[in-house]
Amino acid sequence: MSLSLEGRVAIVTGAAHGLGRCHAINLAQRGAKIVVNDIGADDAGGGRNESPAEQVVEEIKAAGGEAVAHFGDVADWNDAQALVQRAVDTYGDLHILINNAGFTRDATIFNMTEQDFDDVVRVHLKGHFAVSKFAMTHWRNQSKQAGGPIFGRLISTASESWLFGTPGQPNYAPAKAGIVSLTMGLAQMGLRYGVTANVVMPRARTRMTLKGAMGAMFEKPEEGFDNFDPENSSPLFVYLCTPEAGHISGELFLIWGQATSVWKRPEPYAVYETDDIWTVERLHEVYGPHFESRQVVTDGFTVPAM
Ligand SMILES: NC(=O)c1ccc[n+]([C@@H]2O[C@H](COP(=O)([O-])OP(=O)(O)OC[C@H]3O[C@@H](n4cnc5c(N)ncnc54)[C@H](O)[C@@H]3O)[C@@H](O)[C@H]2O)c1
Repeated sequence: MSLSLEGRVAIVTGAAHGLGRCHAINLAQRGAKIVVNDIGADDAGGGRNESPAEQVVEEIKAAGGEAVAHFGDVADWNDAQALVQRAVDTYGDLHILINNAGFTRDATIFNMTEQDFDDVVRVHLKGHFAVSKFAMTHWRNQSKQAGGPIFGRLISTASESWLFGTPGQPNYAPAKAGIVSLTMGLAQMGLRYGVTANVVMPRARTRMTLKGAMGAMFEKPEEGFDNFDPENSSPLFVYLCTPEAGHISGELFLIWGQATSVWKRPEPYAVYETDDIWTVERLHEVYGPHFESRQVVTDGFTVPAM
């Protein structure tokens, strides 16, 4: 068991700060050559700055690793294609894609602007789609040339918000839901080419979480284990890229603090059948009693028991 990434070529998107920076450094420590992608946005997605990505490249090189920067926008079609090409032109191939870039602009549905919805869905969902499209295309071409499976690892970054929704993130949560569904489809497509695709839901202290409504929860504790150190999540991203994880695909993981878990697919918990077509009355006969204990909003703003 080597768990080595020696000679592998990896793209990490949004790798100038936070989680992406940790993933890039951890992959490089295992021997991977890294394309550090980052547009250099501020925490709300505005502006461009090349120096944070360059700093991460310098940090990796100073530790004896290999890295190059790419300053493109993950959700721009041409930039996404150029990013994959950058890996191939610089290091001769691509083996690993960690989709990570993004930003938040939280508001309730009442206050959210059309722009804030479009921009956040764009960077996360289209940003995952666009770079994945060109990476998957590269892997399919490589597999056809090789006449069999090659080595491809794709990891997407979601958030628990996709599962449970969050009233203050009606742009971010559905974008993350789309990322899960996108990645599950890529996992099925990748099987024939030797490409795995998985989703990880991290939690970490980054500028994204520190500015949020729960910011105080992410502060570094004065003593005890630092649950929200972004370093806590990177080992799972790295593990899923190793040769040893080649049989793990189409899975959804959570990691933060000292715990990690792998999640089941949603499944029905109550199944009703009828001898004929369902009618409104017949549905009321089964779902009326089923939901009897959950009288929702009949007395003002009662929150249903889930
Ligand atoms: N921090 C958490 O607790 C947490 C929880 C769940 C999911 N996530 C996800 O993890 C990922 C990383 O978030 P983070 O917390 O490290 O935030 P961060 O702000 O520290 O890092 C995000 C990086 O993405 C870059 N970026 C933004 N738009 C870009 C674009 N169009 N093209 C290329 N790069 C772009 C930014 O410049 C920044 O460096 C995000 O997808 C986020 O949704 C984070």
